[in-house]
Amino acid sequence: MSNRVKVRIHSVGKYIPEKILTNDDLTEWLDTSDEWITSRTGIKQRHISTTENTSDLCTEAALKALGKVKVKAEEIGLLIVATMSPDAHSPSVACTVQSNIHAKNAMAFDINAACSGFVYACSVAEKMLSVSPYQYALVIGGEVMSKVVDWKDRSTAVLFGDGAGCVLLEKNENTHSFIGENLHADGSRGSSLTSGEVAVNNLLTSGNKANPHLQMNGRDIFDFVIRSVPKSIIEVVEANQLQLEEIDYFLLHQANARLIKAVSKKLKQPIEKFPQNIDQYGNTSAASIPILLDELIEHGDIQLNSNQTIVLTGFGGGLTWGSLLIKL
Ligand code: ACO
Repeated sequence: MSNRVKVRIHSVGKYIPEKILTNDDLTEWLDTSDEWITSRTGIKQRHISTTENTSDLCTEAALKALGKVKVKAEEIGLLIVATMSPDAHSPSVACTVQSNIHAKNAMAFDINAACSGFVYACSVAEKMLSVSPYQYALVIGGEVMSKVVDWKDRSTAVLFGDGAGCVLLEKNENTHSFIGENLHADGSRGSSLTSGEVAVNNLLTSGNKANPHLQMNGRDIFDFVIRSVPKSIIEVVEANQLQLEEIDYFLLHQANARLIKAVSKKLKQPIEKFPQNIDQYGNTSAASIPILLDELIEHGDIQLNSNQTIVLTGFGGGLTWGSLLIKL
């Protein structure tokens, strides 16, 4: 660590589309109820984009993060977007954001690790920034999940929402935010959550079918999370000679309030250390952790440069999961 260039979180921003769909609103289209959704997931409402695509949400989140500390877009050397709902396969969302904000000196690319994407992207950005000549990197988690879910499938449609969150990373002589990490994947279980399948159809084939919509075996994912997430958190904390009691907050991907409660119970840590906003936004996939971080900073629960210790944990499609141990 001592030889490594130090990188810290300098600023955080978010952008949420305006339109709200409550659980009751959904009953107009789906055979569901507020009672079912609330009791199984903790979700009360979600924000849904009506016109803005993923790059639009990410652009606004980036401008918020930059505006708070008056860093100019030209000073950004690296721009990574974590998303599983890009505008297109190409150009990447990151390239579109780079153009929108005029970050003309930034290299830009997307990472897809589904709901673990933000944690993966922070890990990559921190390492790349530390060996680059640039001072700043933007890491954005952004999703328009409403365009990938199957609105006829009540078992998944009620779960997801749209939004974007962004952190601005800065090389800094004094503070190193990234204390430890573990990132994992198990591709052999990828079929538990699929989205955006593309079949091979060309002049030599025809009729190959693919399902573009998100499909999820909720039970499989639930079991996987209960087994892997507490382990990942314990691993990252203990590998860095800390105790769970010394962690101020555990910021988990906001997939399901019951899951978060189960993880808190398994770790024997009070639920108050697991802040949640899933009731407001639903599951915003790669965006959920930076959106939550931004809200906690806005509410004063978390302060940058405060020496607070937090764990960020993502989990989801791939399957992928992982934790970052961060000192603010
Ligand atoms: N409204 C009413 N009833 C419903 C709905 C709905 N929206 N959806 C399903 N049901 C019914 C089912 O049809 C089923 O009925 P049946 O018993 O008559 O067959 C019953 O409710 C139970 O369905 P289950 O799927 O077994 O419900 P479960 O209690 O497992 O909850 C849930 C489902 C919420 C999805 C849960 O499994 C879960 O949260 N899993 C984890 C999801 C997750 O963490 N994903 C993160 C990754 S996301 C990513 O990477 C993009």
